[in-house]
Order: sequence, then C-alpha cells, then structure tokens
Amino acid sequence: MAKTQSDIGLIGLAVMGQNLALNIADHGFQISVYNRTTEKTDKFVAENPSTPGGVVGAKTLEEFVASLATPRKMIILVQAGKATDAVIDSLVPLLEANDIIIDGGNALWTDTIRREKALKEKGLRFIGSGVSGGEEGARFGPSLMPGGEFAAWKELKPIWEAVAAKVDKKTGRPIMGATPGKPVKGGVPCTTYIGENGAGHYVKMVHNGIEYGDMQMICEAYALMQGLLGLKPAEMGEIFSTWNKGALDSFLIEITADILKQKDPMTKKPIVDVILDTAGQKGTGKWTSVNALDMGVPAPTIAESVFARCLSAIREERVAASKVLKGPKVKKVSPAKKKELIKAIHDALYCSKICSYAQGFQLMRTAQGEYGWKLNFGQIAQIFRGGCIIRAAFLQKITEAYARNPKLANLLLDGYFNKTIQKAQANWRKVISLAVESGISIPTFASALSYYDAYRSARLPANLLQAQRDYFGAHTYERTDKPRGKFYHIDWPEPTRPQLEIK
Ligand code: 2AM
Repeated sequence: MAKTQSDIGLIGLAVMGQNLALNIADHGFQISVYNRTTEKTDKFVAENPSTPGGVVGAKTLEEFVASLATPRKMIILVQAGKATDAVIDSLVPLLEANDIIIDGGNALWTDTIRREKALKEKGLRFIGSGVSGGEEGARFGPSLMPGGEFAAWKELKPIWEAVAAKVDKKTGRPIMGATPGKPVKGGVPCTTYIGENGAGHYVKMVHNGIEYGDMQMICEAYALMQGLLGLKPAEMGEIFSTWNKGALDSFLIEITADILKQKDPMTKKPIVDVILDTAGQKGTGKWTSVNALDMGVPAPTIAESVFARCLSAIREERVAASKVLKGPKVKKVSPAKKKELIKAIHDALYCSKICSYAQGFQLMRTAQGEYGWKLNFGQIAQIFRGGCIIRAAFLQKITEAYARNPKLANLLLDGYFNKTIQKAQANWRKVISLAVESGISIPTFASALSYYDAYRSARLPANLLQAQRDYFGAHTYERTDKPRGKFYHIDWPEPTRPQLEIK
C-alpha cells in the first residue's frame, strides 16, 4: 500500500537515475520519479511494480512535487550543466521554504557553489552530491560525497547512508552480494558529509582525476609487460589476478584481469587486441588538472593521464608518425629475469599510485583553504573504500595515515608510505630506466617518480630559473644567505650598479 507521500523524489530516468531510484526503493523508501519524456517514467514504473519501498510515477513536475513529503527532498540526475539549471529553474516556483534539491550529477563544483547560493537566497536548500560507482554502484551501493548546508545533509543522511556502498568495519573491504530487493546488511556506509556548498562535487572531481591516473598507470604496467616481456593478454590477466590479492587489491586491477582474459566473441582473439587504442574523456580529469594549474598545485601524474588520453585520440597522426620517427630497439628481458621484472613493474605501479594519490589529496587540501571548507581527509579516504571506481585496499592505508596524523602535509610523509617507497624505489627506477631505454611511453610512472624526486629535494634548479626571470624581466630573486621575503635584482648581463634590494 503506497504511502500518501513519498520520502524522496528523483528527476531524470537515464540509467544512473533508474538505478539510484531502485536502490533507494530497495531500502524501503518510497520514491517518486519524473522524467521529461513521460514514456520513460511510465515504462520504469510498469517494470518495477513491487519494490520494498515503492516507486510512484509523476507525469508533471507539479504532480511530482505534490507527491513528496515536506521538507521535500528531490534528486536531480540529468546531464550536468544547462539541463541541471533548466530543471532547477522549473522546480523553484513549485517549492516551499526549506525544500532540498540534491544534484547527483557530475557538476562542476563552481556551478554547485553558484546554485547553492542562488537557492539559499530563495529560502531553498541545495546539496551537490558526488555519486561514484557507475551504473552498478548506483544500483547496489555507490560512494556518495555530499556537500551543502549541514542541516540539509542531516535530512538526507538516513537515505544516503542506507543506499551507499558498505564496507566491513574491521577490514574496510567492500561488502558485496546485493541483489534486486535484497541490499547488503550492516557495514560502514561509504558516505559522509564533505563540507559546505561545492565541496562534495569538488571531492568527486578529484576522485575522478585520481581514477584517470589509476587507469593510465595500469595501462603502462600492461604496456611494459607486453613490450619488455612479450607476454600475451591471458598471461597478463593471470598476473593482474595475482596482484589483486596483494597490496594492489582494487576494483580497477580486478576488472583489468577480467578484460585481459576475455576473448572477442567474433574473432576469438583476446578482446584487448581488437579494441582500437583511442580513449575518450568526459571532462572531470581535465577539470582536475586545470584546477591544479589554477591553484598552482603540482598534480603532474593526474595531468599526464589526461594527456595520455589526448595522445591516444590522435591515432591517425600517430600511425603516420610511427612510419617516420625511429626509437631504440626494445631491450627484451631474458625469460630467466621474468619473475623479477614482473615484481619490479608491480612495485613501480604501487609507488606511482602513492604519488598520484598524494597529488590528489594535496589538491583537496589546497582547495579547502581556497573555498573555506573543512575537509576530513581520513573520512574522504574511508568513503572511497567501497562503491566507487577507485575502491581499493590501498585506501585503508590512506585512512590509517590520516588517523595517525589528520594534519599530514603530504601522504608521502606518512611512515607507511615513506617506508613502502623506500623499499620499492630501486624497482621503480629500474622499470622506468628500462622503459626509457626501450622507447616505451610511460608518462604517469615517469612523472610520478619526478614528482617524488622533486618533492624530496631541498634544492631544485629553480635558482637558475629565477635568475633567468630576473635577467629578462627584472622579476627579482631571493638569496640563500638572506631572510625570505627580501628581494634583489642586478643589472644583467654586466652589473654596473651593486646588487639592489627591492622594496
Ligand atoms: P529525457 O529522457 O527526456 O531525454 C539524461 O540525459 C537524463 O537527463 C534523461 O532522463 C533526460 O530526459 C534528462 N534531461 C536532459 N536534458 C534535460 C532537460 N533540459 N530537462 C529535463 N530533463 C533533461
């Protein structure tokens, strides 16, 4: 028997919207749904007649709004950008003070800040929530990253905690096995209040940037095994399966193993061998990198993973260049050294991953200063442990690092990560040397190592750079033998006057 009013509503019945609505209904909440094209709503309601909570279809926005219990809570899951604004604009005249709009799309965090402010002026509340985990996550447990007014979050919290992915309290590992109508019971939900206004969408964006890095790093490990050892996909699949039982245990390693073992149904060849080597990008990795540049935060590994996709996309140009530009001969590694090299590639991947995450967390740390958020990095790492694409055993280590020191300046400085890199760095360097000598492109591995080497350098060659700036642009320099904040200049190339102290 349907309740008179629904606990929550959802607008936008594309796959993500449908799956999140079913997930919510599976947890006993009655949900009203609306889609611009009514046929989709009708079909969805007809296909799901007996969920535990109940799905109620609305043909108009008026009907949709009227069907919700107050203060109304409604999730928008339409295309990010103009469509989100259009839906908000048509909703606003129908709402009452304190109603809550939740944007579950991949919005740019600055749009979320703008929307939250505009709606607050109208007495309405707005939550921008990252939803990670793709279609499967939305259906059976995503990682949810809500940002907005804390009081509004409290209203949403019971629903968000119910539908989020769950991890085991002790091990931090995802609890799997949910089926339609039967969600998993118990466990720690992968959601927490992230911060004011756009904080949730910002963290979701960085999550995606980290995901770009993880994916490219795995591809480089694959390229190295293929290039240096001539391994076949199925064999590499087995190696990834083994890796998935150790420190690299993660969703992306797991699916990589599956993919490498998969045969093309048409040709029966390994499917990776028939898939064209061009990758698309939807923008969040680019946003992360652009924001890193805007804030002046070094996130080279994440940026390289976006550039790697850009390079993959210019395939015709690469094919033409491959006939003209010569590289070195690949240094094939002897079969006797195979096991050793595979271990070294594993270590290189793990060290690079640590650097990439260090960069992602540095971004969040700087953004919190920029936007006045109070982010809890330990909790953020915790909610990444289940549901989302970057879920990994590794995140438990990050959670523990921030538990040891919530004010950690950089993940690299945590004892566990520091020791891990110390132990593995000889292998990391060896793999990168081999790749360079053999002409195998490894942009994220190499940039991660350069990041590590630069970050641990008390003195970088920027002294020369600053001298160049002073030479051609009188940009001034500071001195090693004087206090910081005192600026000097000389007349280049032949100082006719003594060194000048500026200001
Ligand atoms: P549709 O089925 O009517 O196209 C993903 O595209 C989802 O966003 C779909 O549910 C789609 O509705 C919805 N959508 C896209 N643009 C929209 C808009 N301007 N207003 C309302 N819904 C929109």
